Amino acid sequence: MRIQSGRLHLGMAWKESISLKSYNTFGIDVSAAHLGEAQDMDQLAALIAEVPDRKQLLVLGGGSNVLLTQDVDRWVLLNRLGGIEQVREDKEHVWIKAGAGIVWHDLVLYAIEKGYGGIENLSLIPGNVGAAPMQNIGAYGVELKDVFEELEAWHIFDQELHTFGGADCKFGYRESVFKRNLKNQYIITSITLKLTKKPVFNVSYGAIESELKAQKVTETTLQDVSKAVIAIRQSKLPDPAQIGNSGSFFKNPVIPQKQFNRLKEQYSSMPGYVLSEGLVKIAAGWLIEQAGWKGYRSGDFGVHDRQALVLVNHGGAKGSDILDLSTKIMIDILEKFDIQLEREVNIY
Ligand code: EPU
Repeated sequence: MRIQSGRLHLGMAWKESISLKSYNTFGIDVSAAHLGEAQDMDQLAALIAEVPDRKQLLVLGGGSNVLLTQDVDRWVLLNRLGGIEQVREDKEHVWIKAGAGIVWHDLVLYAIEKGYGGIENLSLIPGNVGAAPMQNIGAYGVELKDVFEELEAWHIFDQELHTFGGADCKFGYRESVFKRNLKNQYIITSITLKLTKKPVFNVSYGAIESELKAQKVTETTLQDVSKAVIAIRQSKLPDPAQIGNSGSFFKNPVIPQKQFNRLKEQYSSMPGYVLSEGLVKIAAGWLIEQAGWKGYRSGDFGVHDRQALVLVNHGGAKGSDILDLSTKIMIDILEKFDIQLEREVNIY
């Protein structure tokens, strides 16, 4: 055991047969064959070096975007790399570097407290900093890529640190290169964001505007926007500390404009956001609600009653129950609307 920065560490050893219940926000009780925790880069490298087959490594941050359907017969590494520091500044901007193990919302609070704008719309998103670029987190009109400068990631096989700029990350809607070509090859260790000293508020998302009005805000501040986002999220999305969930379970699907027009004739209230090239993004939550699944419950698993895009564990659900439910919903949506939903959550 060693003491570092006042914290007591249990050491860098892998532990065997550990429950993962408290390490995934769905609260699924499966066990990991091996569990290790890295608080700094030395521990990270040392733990990885001990893994006989590095393809068997599974990295968990906040565990907020995974559904565990069975015991994990792998080496599960908890990324707890810390630290928030200002690495650069000019007249208008600051560059903030944060360790991958920092809780995302703590980074948001840090920025707000310092008066730096850019991530206030991303308040209260569950998960850790390292997961943010993996799926290019987004909410209320802002995505991580809008403030992203670069990240550092540890190559699992070469045991080397590499730097990735925005273009290298190939960000898309809930997408990055780390979910595709470079899947399971890197561990994100830190990210650097470019924030602004003179915040430009992005409150065009309808719900934020009305929430600010409800709060009788006249001169908007970063705190106001954050508070509004938190109020909206809390009114719709279940708190994982109370009801197990991992936020949106599905992505919002994109369909051809022609198909959207046809559906719109039948369902005039169907929301759709026109993208470029005749494509329209549809609200999966709306489709699932229309199909009658909102608030569905069977035993301890179901669909949230205020946001149909969120599948929930009321207590003792198994991951496979939730996976089966998601398959049923996908089949139903395909039959009813001829739209193929895609899961956003990673399944293990
Ligand atoms: N809607 C319904 N029924 C529902 C849910 C939504 O009719 O049960 C309708 C709403 O009335 C609205 C539209 O669908 O017209 C969009 O709903 P909302 O604004 O709640 O956003 P969303 O598209 O359902 C996305 C993100 C969320 C993010 C919000 C706000 C995805 C997969 N989800 O949800 O992200 O917080 O927008 O920007 O893109 C997450 O990724 O985990 C997440 C929560």
